[in-house]
Amino acid sequence: MSTISDYMTKTHALCDELFTNAENLATESNWTELNSAFQDFVTETGKHFSKEEDILFPNVERVMGSSGGPTQVMRMEHQQMRELIALLSHAVTQKDQSEFLGEAETLLVLMQQHNMKEEQILFPWILNNREPRPMAPIQVMLMEHDRAGRHLKQIEDLTDNFQTPNGACPTWRSLYAGLQNPNKELRTHIHLENNILFPRAAQ
Ligand SMILES: [Fe+2]
Ligand SMILES: [Fe+2]
Repeated sequence: MSTISDYMTKTHALCDELFTNAENLATESNWTELNSAFQDFVTETGKHFSKEEDILFPNVERVMGSSGGPTQVMRMEHQQMRELIALLSHAVTQKDQSEFLGEAETLLVLMQQHNMKEEQILFPWILNNREPRPMAPIQVMLMEHDRAGRHLKQIEDLTDNFQTPNGACPTWRSLYAGLQNPNKELRTHIHLENNILFPRAAQ
């Protein structure tokens, strides 16, 4: 059975792959492709951090009864990585190869150490922590997810699943495009909590 640890480890591997690709393009001074390749890395890493910070860590903190300790360290390291990513983005816009490769080396080391701590300590702790825990908070969140799911369905119905009619103006089209992304993100968030995290927390 696939676990949350497997899922998060897989997304670590995906981010590593995107990062290596960007680093190779920077070594070749291929600025045209580096621009979008680096953006892919930034997007995936941002999504991964959000899943950890908004879903995984709060649940760990609830079980531990504290927001200090390991998750605080992980959040701090995310912040350090975000700062390095901002420096790398700047280097991409300036086409500054030595700046990019220098910051990339620092980020790579930080990312490897961070992912190792999550994969070897934090995720196994989540899988092995089988103390009985009160179900009330989970029930409340399930109810809230049901309500949010109904609202999402209403939006999908009202927008004909985000399909604008022929001749729709640009504002209309961009409104539907703008609504579609948060809708997908929220559905993923609900799926992760309902089907992966909550069952694990309830064991
Ligand atoms: Fe993390
Ligand atoms: Fe992670």
